[in-house]
Amino acid sequence: MELFLDTADAQAVAEMSQYLTIAGVTTNPTIITKSGKAPEEVFQRMNAVLTPDQKFFMQVVATDYEGILAEARQICSLRPKNMFVKIPVTHEGLRAIKAAKAEGLGVLATAIYSPDQAFLAAMNGADYLAPYVNRMCNYGDGVQAVRELQEMLEVHGLASKICAASFKNGNQVHELVLAGAEAVTVAPAVVSAMVDHPGTKIAVDEFTQAWNAAYGRTTFKA
Ligand code: G3P
Repeated sequence: MELFLDTADAQAVAEMSQYLTIAGVTTNPTIITKSGKAPEEVFQRMNAVLTPDQKFFMQVVATDYEGILAEARQICSLRPKNMFVKIPVTHEGLRAIKAAKAEGLGVLATAIYSPDQAFLAAMNGADYLAPYVNRMCNYGDGVQAVRELQEMLEVHGLASKICAASFKNGNQVHELVLAGAEAVTVAPAVVSAMVDHPGTKIAVDEFTQAWNAAYGRTTFKA
């Protein structure tokens, strides 16, 4: 199971990597533009906080086959290893995924709204498939669609990993983890909210108060 942070915020990645097991970072053009920084700066800042073993995903902007493939090569050459290109599943995108995999590039097929789109990308050898779970819920049951995708991959012995994406809350993440997604990519704020529980805060406060009342301090040893 891999947990990716879906963000262009390098500081959030550095902080959260201290207390969570973060497999890497995914971005997309919208996330990068919202950061207010140039894409080159986003890359440099993120690359500086990621360890070589953490994966980094950046997305092509071109929409034609030649353009997508050229950008895929550029993106994958940005780091010596664990650099992946995200390619949307369109006609041109599928062609580029096929070519990129023939060249040995790491590929995540993205902007997926149906199990069939994902399955076709898996047949072209995509390493990861990113169904947009929350957005898919506008068209039906996004969680069920991902379950079906998982079954399709298993039945046909395809090795692509599902990297479920587009989450708006922790409950959606919970459902996909339960459904067996091998990876999820989640915004830092949603992951942070998954850590917090009011009951835990009350419990910790009770422990501290009891200790302080008994021993006059809030640490184990004086
Ligand atoms: O990485 C892209 C995906 O997570 C999209 O998320 O929040 O724009 O639906 P969102």
